[in-house]
Amino acid sequence: MSMSGGEDRSPEEKFRLGVLISGSGSNLQSIIDRLHQGPGNIEIAVVISDNPGAYGLKRAEKAGIPTAVYPMSGYSSRAAHDLDMAEELARRGVDLVVLAGYMLIVTSEFLQRFPHRVINLHPSLLPAFPGGTPIEDTMAYGARVTGVTVHFVDEGTDTGPIILQEAVDIKYNDTVESLRERIHKVEHRLLPDAVQLIASGRAGFASENPRRVIIESD
Ligand code: GAR
Repeated sequence: MSMSGGEDRSPEEKFRLGVLISGSGSNLQSIIDRLHQGPGNIEIAVVISDNPGAYGLKRAEKAGIPTAVYPMSGYSSRAAHDLDMAEELARRGVDLVVLAGYMLIVTSEFLQRFPHRVINLHPSLLPAFPGGTPIEDTMAYGARVTGVTVHFVDEGTDTGPIILQEAVDIKYNDTVESLRERIHKVEHRLLPDAVQLIASGRAGFASENPRRVIIESD
């Protein structure tokens, strides 16, 4: 398999993350708590939000992590917005971009700057229920099982190669909020797991099918 991660780094070199958020940032918090400046040599180099009021920015500041805000309103096109953001991430030497509740779709101009280096967290078992309201859509459909997906980002919406998935049962009495809470618990474990796999060079693409991600323990 061809590897996608930090296998070329020297042991002293940190694997640097750029985390993009739009809201509460509870998943950012799980990366701060489990990985940032821990024994795995991973650090968050910057947290970026499109939303100046995102609570996740406060979480980052509390942890002493640099932050930046790029509101869409300041730009005439999504490509221009994303190129400025990509500049900032490159300037900070970011190895992996993590979309952790980032609600804008990133452009192909952005992805070209970080090939196989952008991952996204999504609260459903993709390819079921992509898009902006997956938990609501899952419940409205009457599905009995949903889950969490961490995947590499490609040019489609929630269509990139899957790194990790885990199922979550839907109970008859669930509300969107109670289900969201259980999904969050899984996300807070799965997203740091995926980052760690990539940072340690244990996630790669199968040579016979570049959509398939192989995890070294598979
Ligand atoms: C998470 O549940 C994440 O899966 C979802 O936004 C939430 C952010 O929570 N992302 C998407 O729906 C992307 N389409 P957080 O701000 O507390 O980490």
